[in-house]
Amino acid sequence: MRFLVINGPNLNLLGVREPDIYGKQDYAALLDFLQKSAEEAGVEIRCFQSNHEGAIVDEIQAALGNCDGIVINPAAYTHTSVAILDALKAVAIPAVEVHLSDVSARESFRQISYAGMACIKTIMGLGFQGYRQAILFLKDYLEKQA
Ligand code: DQA
Repeated sequence: MRFLVINGPNLNLLGVREPDIYGKQDYAALLDFLQKSAEEAGVEIRCFQSNHEGAIVDEIQAALGNCDGIVINPAAYTHTSVAILDALKAVAIPAVEVHLSDVSARESFRQISYAGMACIKTIMGLGFQGYRQAILFLKDYLEKQA
């Protein structure tokens, strides 16, 4: 099984960026954690981070025919991007939405998730562990579909 893991804007600044909210570990540590989680699950992953909405749309489109599942933290684009929602719907690859923080307990402008409307599950507030749970959930989901 091959999964695409997408991280949106400012997640490259993990560790520096609001550590009280997003933690003290940096993006390289997240990549290490993702690789270990993929090995644990016995799946292959490709990780992609961009600060640009269109680049994320391009990456989702490029996943068509190349990957079985998508784990996505669209970051701020979660709350604004119909383009990312439409791309996820267009490729129809099972996707799980992840947020490091508990978005549900934050500002009102974070209470809408467009990307989440195209996802089979949302995991929030668990830090890096949320990505691990997303990978394990997707694997289980796809095995049950087969
Ligand atoms: C985030 C939550 C978003 O509201 C925010 O804009 C982010 C990160 C999270 O992982 O908690 O950039 O997606």
